[in-house]
Amino acid sequence: MANIAILPNMNIRTAEFVVSNTNPSACPPPDKPEFAFIGRSNVGKSSLINLLVNRKNLAKTSSTPGKTQTINHFVINGSWFLVDLPGYGYASVSRSKSQAWAPMITTYLLKRTNLVTTFVLIDPRLEPQKIDVEFINWMGQEGLPFAMVFTKADKLSRNALAASTQAWKKKLGERWEELPPLFATSSTDRRGKEQLLEYIAQLLPSGA
Ligand code: GTP
Ligand code: MG
Repeated sequence: MANIAILPNMNIRTAEFVVSNTNPSACPPPDKPEFAFIGRSNVGKSSLINLLVNRKNLAKTSSTPGKTQTINHFVINGSWFLVDLPGYGYASVSRSKSQAWAPMITTYLLKRTNLVTTFVLIDPRLEPQKIDVEFINWMGQEGLPFAMVFTKADKLSRNALAASTQAWKKKLGERWEELPPLFATSSTDRRGKEQLLEYIAQLLPSGA
């Protein structure tokens, strides 16, 4: 019989909420590979997690920015974590609170030993925004692995999406030789789901 190539195939069997907290050192024991979702408030982090795991309301979403304010762990197939993080750069949240997020997020990203990669979510309808560029540059400086994810791709024409991709390549190319992977997703028309799951699958030990 001919050899059959086995591609990483991600089957989400179970997805459960584990814990929500504001203290990075109170996260669950780092005994499973972990993938985090970060980006500006309202960019669609929680919605993307729900898309990936096929659940409408596992991660709480809202049309009002600033919904997720804690570090939320979900365990998938009992063997790896997805983490929904608060958004950065939401001006209307009280200053003290939005400043409190920065150390919470940076401490989490720098200290979490089982973090495999972080998905940095970007709204492709806008020109590259300073806060996103600064965050990506910080990830690069710290040597933290990440991939970029355009959200809400359903709101753009194919041409506009291509233009946004070029704008980001140009912007990051000013500073970095190597660019991170870039995915286009929509939690509305469900595009990008399989690509993201495949990307995660090839970073997991087989069988997870
Ligand atoms: P915070 O927790 O407040 O930081 O926001 P978030 O990044 O988790 O965003 P959330 O998933 O709560 O979505 C914000 C709003 O955008 C909601 O009204 C969603 O329905 C909407 N939204 C999210 N993803 C998409 C998408 O792919 N397409 C469209 N059209 N709307 C989306
Ligand atoms: Mg959220």
